[in-house]
Amino acid sequence: MHIIEEKTLSELVTEIRHPLMQHKLSLMRSKDTPTDNFRRLLREISQMLAYEVTRDLPLENVEIETPIAKIAAPTIAGKKLCVISVLRAGNGILDGMLDLLPNARVGHIGLYRDPATLEPVEYYFKVPEDIADRLVIVVDPMLATGNSAAAAITRLKMRGAVSIKFVCLLAAPEGIKVMNAAHPDVPIITASVDERLNEHGYIVPGLGDAGDRLFGTK
Ligand code: URA
Repeated sequence: MHIIEEKTLSELVTEIRHPLMQHKLSLMRSKDTPTDNFRRLLREISQMLAYEVTRDLPLENVEIETPIAKIAAPTIAGKKLCVISVLRAGNGILDGMLDLLPNARVGHIGLYRDPATLEPVEYYFKVPEDIADRLVIVVDPMLATGNSAAAAITRLKMRGAVSIKFVCLLAAPEGIKVMNAAHPDVPIITASVDERLNEHGYIVPGLGDAGDRLFGTK
């Protein structure tokens, strides 16, 4: 049973073990890292996550002329992108994503966790009309219970999204299981799969409340 569970987790999840990513993530985890550094580090890590989530975009050759010769040069073929930020902490990843993917369209989904039930409640939904034709990259730094991520993706599928990837900074095994059960077609790209959730639904060891740390609200 344990082996099957581990296999299922690893098939769905890409954990990026790159030393730069791990180093920056450790700085973010420290409770002594101030808001300005936290924000900058998340932006930098998000650029690396953007690199990873677009790894298998198809290429096509386009003829160009360098100052020296004509070549068939590889360029990204057709596939249009859309980044969906799960408010509010998703905006911290969005900025770094757009640094690398400036032509991507952007959508926002507002969900908050009911503190008693930990269930997601939707308060905002605005996405590009043509998401059915795009690779949809959903971003939220913390995959904790997985309820918000799964609910956001269900809504996007209802609006026609078919090709979806989920990008987060930290993932709890509990959240991965929920996502795996609800959306086994959605790969997860993360900087770290952490140990577990605590009784308040926070990721352990985690980094605390990503939104508060990003926006300095506490
Ligand atoms: N959301 C956060 O911001 N942090 C957690 O640890 C879990 C959910």
